[in-house]
Amino acid sequence: MVTYKKIAVMISGRGSNMNAIMAASMDPDYPARIIGVVSNRPNAAGLEIAEKNGIATKAIDHKTYDLREEHEAAITKVLEEMAPDLVVLAGYMRILSSTFVNRWRGKLINIHPSLLPSFRGLDTHERALIAGVKVHGCSVHYVTAELDDGPIIAQAAVPVLPDDTADTLQARVLKAEHFLYPKAVAMIASGEVRHSADNAIFNLAEPIDNEAMLLSPMK
Ligand code: GRF
Repeated sequence: MVTYKKIAVMISGRGSNMNAIMAASMDPDYPARIIGVVSNRPNAAGLEIAEKNGIATKAIDHKTYDLREEHEAAITKVLEEMAPDLVVLAGYMRILSSTFVNRWRGKLINIHPSLLPSFRGLDTHERALIAGVKVHGCSVHYVTAELDDGPIIAQAAVPVLPDDTADTLQARVLKAEHFLYPKAVAMIASGEVRHSADNAIFNLAEPIDNEAMLLSPMK
């Protein structure tokens, strides 16, 4: 019998990356399944998508807690009940304390809309255009207490075109995110990459096809 790795997803909004992972996990050969989705915003559109797909959801509204630590403790409690193998941040828009990060260290991953270590933080597409970079993209990384700074698991690149606006660039990168995140989750779930002493350790059966990584999001 196949045993799937259990994924908990944390969102704040539309949940398109969560949806991409969910779609990938419809394949019987995909090594992981989403077992629950937690949002800090009760009206996050992603919650509805998850519910429609029969996935357990939990809204834990940060506005109802005085302290960040209390809010995060509530999330940790819910996650502990789910006992996930992996906690996937997919557009979770609140900074996480070192207490939370350390509790889930090695099991907590994030997708960031830039080629890290460039453009950590917000407004990555605007900043990429201002900087005049010709290649932009997205990164999946293990989460550490430093914002957008943990070991990089996988990246996908897209070109920056001469007439790009932040919106057109964002749309191109988002397409790459939907390609990359399910692949990165599968790499972890199948043991091709693991976390050790704050490093990403790779044990790939075959080398990553970088050409495919670069071209596929553009299709
Ligand atoms: C994505 O661009 C992700 O990289 C960033 O927030 C956005 C979330 O989008 N962290 P969605 O909710 O997955 O559609």
